[in-house]
Amino acid sequence: MLDIQKIRADFPILSQTVNGKPLVYFDNGATSQKPQVVIDAEVKYYQEINANIHRGVHTLSQLATDAYEVSRGKVKEHINAKFAHEVLFTSGTTHGINLVTNGFASILKPDDEVIVSSLEHHSNIVPWQMLCEKTGAVLKVIPINENGELIIEAFDALLSEKTKVVTVNHISNALGIINPIKYIIDKAHSFGAAVLIDGAQAVPHLKPDVQELDCDFYAFSGHKMCGPTGTGILYGKEEWLNKLPPYQGGGEMIKEVTFEKTTYADLPHKFEAGTPNIAGGIVLGTAIDYLNNIGFDNIQEYEHELLEYATKRLSEIEGLRIYGTGKNKASVISFNIDGIHPYDVGSIIDKLGIAVRTGHHCAQPIMNFFCIPGTIRASFSFYNTKEEIDQMVDSVKKAQIMLS
Ligand code: ALA
Repeated sequence: MLDIQKIRADFPILSQTVNGKPLVYFDNGATSQKPQVVIDAEVKYYQEINANIHRGVHTLSQLATDAYEVSRGKVKEHINAKFAHEVLFTSGTTHGINLVTNGFASILKPDDEVIVSSLEHHSNIVPWQMLCEKTGAVLKVIPINENGELIIEAFDALLSEKTKVVTVNHISNALGIINPIKYIIDKAHSFGAAVLIDGAQAVPHLKPDVQELDCDFYAFSGHKMCGPTGTGILYGKEEWLNKLPPYQGGGEMIKEVTFEKTTYADLPHKFEAGTPNIAGGIVLGTAIDYLNNIGFDNIQEYEHELLEYATKRLSEIEGLRIYGTGKNKASVISFNIDGIHPYDVGSIIDKLGIAVRTGHHCAQPIMNFFCIPGTIRASFSFYNTKEEIDQMVDSVKKAQIMLS
């Protein structure tokens, strides 16, 4: 059992009022709030050990380097990577995905095939489209059904010896659907294809085990899991990271530079050109410790309760439709009210202190599938409460009356 009031006290922002009302923060899918330990760790870094890493013999540089590498080790443990050098620091999921698509530009040939899914965020569609344009490879798309679930038989049918890469998200940001990624990974591997999992929406809710999943790449962001913005991780299997060319050239990613030929550093540095977000990388480790102290089993159980409660309460509203009604879901609810634009509902409930995301959620193909301009999305975290859900439901009802 989680002590939610004690947990809420860890997050200073949650006790704010917004527009004169107590803040109800249900936009966790966009970014999570930060506990005081994370905020303190960022300040402490700048107050005590700020220096550039991997470069200086001086004490501060050593301290900063050690703290950065300790954090890499924490991530390695957290996702159960085989080696710490399979864990690359990035600025976020988008960076991680682009690093991979950039690498595949030198691997894919015309008529090779890349499979993405209809449930993807634009950040896991557009880089693959750009890659296909560059290489002449062909993009294939796994369709979804009316519940917002991937049609797995259609995925099976898309696979062939032409398939070189398959990429899906672990959890859909727009609908909250949890995808059967283990099946997808194993099946893609049986055709010799590499698999990238976009874990951006999964890592706030669960602890991925990349060795058990056997994925080739797993990309995620720090800011959705209580860490700072501008942080992220790309996990890549050693063999793949050795095979892919560097993403960016610059300092720190080289062994030797001459005008005739430059050789590249070993992993992970080959992919970490330039001065990184040092404070962010270190503090991501603090955020991971914080979440592990709460416990992902506890988080999942409690968030599931919130999801069930919100689904039941919102379903009481006449004319309200929930999108993404599949069985396996994370604590995300996307919905609309008949005849009312999602933006209008979002604006009115914001005045009542409720923060939700409205729009296409950077997932326009999903909106096109349902023939809607967007949805109202409430995404819950372990620090939310049923009372907050009641407040949202009351506010949505008020908005419905005002806008009908
Ligand atoms: N990808 C983030 C979201 O779903 C920003 O809101």
